[in-house]
Amino acid sequence: MDLFEYQARDMFEASGVPVLRGLVATTPEEAESAAARLGTPVVVVKAQVKTGGRGKAGGVKLARSPQEAAARAADILGMDIKGHTVRQVMVAEGAEIADEYYFSLLLDRTTGKYLAMCSVEGGMDIETLAVERPDALVRFPIDPNAGLDAVAAAEIVAQAGFAEADRDAVASVLVRLGEVYRDNDATLVEVNPLVKTADGRIIALDGKVTLDGNAEFRHPEWAQYRDEASEDPLEVRAKALDLNYVKLDGSVGIIGNGAGLVMSTLDVVAAAGADLPGSPRPANFLDIGGGASAQVMANGLEIILSDPQVRVVFVNVFGGITACSEVAKGIIDALGMLGEKATKPIVVRLDGNAVKIGRHMLTEAAHPLVELADTMDAAARRAAELAAE
Ligand SMILES: Nc1ncnc2c1ncn2[C@@H]1O[C@H](COP(=O)(O)OP(=O)(O)OP(=O)(O)O)[C@@H](O)[C@H]1O
Ligand SMILES: [Mg+2]
Repeated sequence: MDLFEYQARDMFEASGVPVLRGLVATTPEEAESAAARLGTPVVVVKAQVKTGGRGKAGGVKLARSPQEAAARAADILGMDIKGHTVRQVMVAEGAEIADEYYFSLLLDRTTGKYLAMCSVEGGMDIETLAVERPDALVRFPIDPNAGLDAVAAAEIVAQAGFAEADRDAVASVLVRLGEVYRDNDATLVEVNPLVKTADGRIIALDGKVTLDGNAEFRHPEWAQYRDEASEDPLEVRAKALDLNYVKLDGSVGIIGNGAGLVMSTLDVVAAAGADLPGSPRPANFLDIGGGASAQVMANGLEIILSDPQVRVVFVNVFGGITACSEVAKGIIDALGMLGEKATKPIVVRLDGNAVKIGRHMLTEAAHPLVELADTMDAAARRAAELAAE
C-alpha cells in the first residue's frame, strides 16, 4: 500500500524526522487559508498523487502569497499526472534549499536484506543517475535484524561523500528514517530530495512510503490510509468479500483454489494462448482458497464476470478440502443469480474430492455457457481459443 506524500510527512514527523509544516487542501479556497495559516513568505503547492515525477509534470509550484497559492492550487487540482487525477494538494512551507540529496531504504527480495541507497546528488531523476553515474549512488545492504543503526548510517554518509561537517546531522536523520521503516512495516521509505537548507538544517522535503500489506493485521491505524478512489473497484469488492483477487490485463478470467494451482493455471493459459490470434492472457488471479463453499465460488464468479475485459472464465479446482460438488453448486447458483447478465463462456476443470458428483451436477444443469474439460491443459487450450475468437 502506497501513501500520499502528506501521509508520509505526518509519519516522518511522528518519528522525529525533520519535515516542514504542510496542510492538505482540496479546493483553491482551502489552499489560500492553508497558506495564510502557514504564514511563511513562500509556500509550495504540491499535487498529492501516488506517482513520481510530479515536479516535472507541473504539479509542484511556488507561491508568494495566499492568493497566489489559491491560483496555483486551481492550476494543479484536477490535473492528470501519469493517469492519476489530482484530488488534493499539500500546501507546504517554502524552504531555502542549499543542497539536495537522495535517500531510500527498501526491501531487497533477492538478497533477503534491506537496501539503503544514498547520493549527495538528489533532486534529479534517480533512475537516470543510477544508469548514467552509478558511482554517485551508494548501495548499502542492511541486515534486517540489526536495522539501520548508527554504525550503518555513519558508513552510508561517509561512502556517499557528504562533507565532514554534515555527516552527523544526516546520519541521525537516516537512523530516524530507518525507525520509520521498521516501526511501520514499510517496504520502501524514499526521500528525494533530502535537503540542507540555507541555515544548515537537514530536512525531508518529499516522502514516499510503501507499507507491507501483509502486516495490515497489526496496524489498525492503517484504516486511515484506505484510498478506494485509486484502487481497482473490483479489487475493493473482492477484498470486502475476503477473496484473494489481483487484476491483470488479459482476457481469460481465472478462478482456482490454492495459490500454487492458480499460479500454474496462469502459466498454462499464457502458454496455450501464445500462438493464438491476439495471444490471450490471464485477466486476473483469483484464489477461492481451501474449503471454499458454494457461496465463495459464486462471489468469485460474480466478480470475474463483471470485469469488462474478461471474455471467458476458466475455473480450475482441485478438490482437497474443497468438494467439487460445492464448486459445481457455486457455479450453478451464480449463473442462476446472474440470469441474463451472464453472457461469457465458462470452462470448468474439476478434479479430486467429490469430482464425480460435481461433474454430474454440471452435466445435469446443462447450462449453455458452461463447458467441462477433462484435464487442465485441455481446459486452458479451450479457454484460450474462446478468448481468441
Ligand atoms: N517545501 C519546499 N520548499 C522549496 N522547494 C521545494 C519544496 N518542496 C519541493 N521543492 C522543490 O521542488 C522539487 C520537487 O519536489 P518533490 O520532490 O516533492 O516532487 P517530485 O520529485 O517532482 O515528485 P516525485 O518525488 O513524486 O517525483 C524539489 O526537488 C525541490 O527542489
Ligand atoms: Mg521528489
